[in-house]
Amino acid sequence: MAAESSPNKTKANNGKGLLWLPLWMGLAIAGLLVVVVVLLGLLAVSIMERRWEAQRPAVVVRPIGEWEPDNAVWGQNYPREYESYLRTRITDTKTKYGGSHPRDYLEADPLQVILFAGYGFSKDYRQARGHYYAVEDVSKTARLAKPFQAATCWSCKSPDVPRLMDKMGVKEFYAANFHDLADEVTHPIGCQDCHDPQTLKLRITRPALKEALAAMGRDINQATHQEMRSLVCAQCHVEYYFRTDPQAGMKNYLVFPWAQGTTLEAMLAHYDELEFKDYVHPISGTPIVKAQHPDYELYLTGIHAYRNVSCADCHMPYRTEGGVKYTDHHVRSPLLNIANSCAVCHRWGEDEIRTRVEGIQTKTETAKLAAEDALVKAHFDVAAAVQAGATVENLALPRKLLRHGQFRWDFISANNGMGFHSAQESMRLLGEAANLAQQVRVETAHLLARLGTTQSPTYPDVSTREKAWEVAQTFVEGKGVNLLP
Ligand code: HEC
Ligand code: HEC
Ligand code: HEC
Ligand code: HEC
Repeated sequence: MAAESSPNKTKANNGKGLLWLPLWMGLAIAGLLVVVVVLLGLLAVSIMERRWEAQRPAVVVRPIGEWEPDNAVWGQNYPREYESYLRTRITDTKTKYGGSHPRDYLEADPLQVILFAGYGFSKDYRQARGHYYAVEDVSKTARLAKPFQAATCWSCKSPDVPRLMDKMGVKEFYAANFHDLADEVTHPIGCQDCHDPQTLKLRITRPALKEALAAMGRDINQATHQEMRSLVCAQCHVEYYFRTDPQAGMKNYLVFPWAQGTTLEAMLAHYDELEFKDYVHPISGTPIVKAQHPDYELYLTGIHAYRNVSCADCHMPYRTEGGVKYTDHHVRSPLLNIANSCAVCHRWGEDEIRTRVEGIQTKTETAKLAAEDALVKAHFDVAAAVQAGATVENLALPRKLLRHGQFRWDFISANNGMGFHSAQESMRLLGEAANLAQQVRVETAHLLARLGTTQSPTYPDVSTREKAWEVAQTFVEGKGVNLLP
């Protein structure tokens, strides 16, 4: 049958027909095209308007107060965003290095028990989970068991925080006792943390971010819309410390160490200038700065920030439901939603994307473990030098190198995403961390030799969480295991 029809087709489509159309017909076709284009345009506009209306209801079902902390109240007006937000409750998702479940870092990696010896993180250190659990998790964690704990610890957990800051004053809020505010802080991270209740525009509610940008000479009000899609996250996913300065009336005041910039070097310079430390390491006597979770700062050094891709682009992609496009508020690992999170920009297959990410992460993990091994030995080497009789002056340089090495390692280790947010910067810092640790070891080997010990120290077995804990405790209690051969 195909054979029968083909001769006719060839005759009709000989290519010349169109060229010899009468003028009026050409004009008519052109006219028709114009009409079609205009109609399509009108359709697009109407779709956009419908989207807009769907997002911002003409009648706000229930007006939202200026400091409304209850996500359910916002949810009556914006059910899609609310329902997707509620999915941050899900805790049974696991990716190779992330996902939402309370992964126990210390079981998986006992060397961290040594690196955080004497500090809360050596007791209890779990992977973060969904925003829905922020209040519950901070209330439970063993790190906060002391009778007085800075209320500052509530800062990144709840939309009750801006409300209380408004009521009490910012300084007064930070200076309060965490436990005294427990009845007031009940709503987990939510709508008011990121949105203006009247206009639903993105808004920064945390003074620490505004102050940190101002210290760098930047005005938060000048931020572009695309920048805001990351800055709302930078209210919490950053490096920070608590400053106490009686002259300035500050007690446990939340500060981001960005005065000299957001790179690792700039932040460390800031900490060194203040001689800031979170704790003195009980094994090596080194003043340590504990990195928090500098996700935003590391992200800034990566290819996606360079190409203007925001946190929300990957972690809060668009969804479409019944023809309505809206922002998915189920903030989670993008590897659980590759199609919407990555494939909109990258035309690679899903498996290929996952393999690519896991490849970056596995390399980062390998470098991270190598740095940890060197750092742990460096802590013991300094302790061995102390046991051999080295003085505080002898150890000033090794301790400074160790402080700088450990902060570089922790900066990447404490970061979420196992290096993905900025693969090259992660490898640079882990490489430097290992190198600094090895410099400590060379310095202490010379010291030991001068003090009469030419053999290397005997390193205790720290291969399980329990063994590492016991070794660390002997140093916390002031004795320490004998390291000299
Ligand atoms: C280009 C996409 C992309 C951008 C942009 C991005 N992330 Fe990520 N993020 C990822 C990927 C991929 C992971 C790894 C997830 C995993 O291992 O399961 C991740 C992991 C995380 C995690 C840990 C989640 C988990 O389940 O382990 C957090 C928290 C996070 N990112 C926060 C941020 C913040 C904050 C920003 C902006 C400053 C940001 N991300 C920017 C892709 C991105
Ligand atoms: C008000 C502070 C705050 C803001 C704002 C915030 N986060 Fe978080 N985020 C947290 C805390 C705290 C956790 C850990 C919660 C827990 O484990 O209980 C977390 C956890 C996460 C996780 C891990 C979720 C999982 O399932 O493993 C991701 C991913 C994440 N945040 C991304 C973002 C992104 C992207 C933004 C900006 C769009 C953002 N966050 C804004 C405080 C915040
Ligand atoms: C961690 C920050 C964050 C939190 C918490 C948050 N949002 Fe959003 N929301 C965003 C971002 C980012 C966008 C995208 C805005 C843009 O690009 O203009 C958005 C967009 C929206 C929009 C505009 C329509 C759309 O879907 O794009 C509405 C409505 C909205 N959110 C409602 C809510 C509600 C209701 C809650 C609480 C249940 C909430 N948001 C919690 C960050 C947040
Ligand atoms: C809004 C667009 C956008 C989104 C969403 C996005 N990317 Fe990208 N990605 C880019 C751009 C642009 C580049 C840089 C490409 C270039 O400059 O050649 C890039 C680069 C990359 C690279 C190469 C990095 C390197 O150094 O070679 C990887 C890997 C990557 N993206 C993975 C992801 C993954 C995984 C996700 C989802 C979690 C994702 N991207 C989401 C736009 C995006």
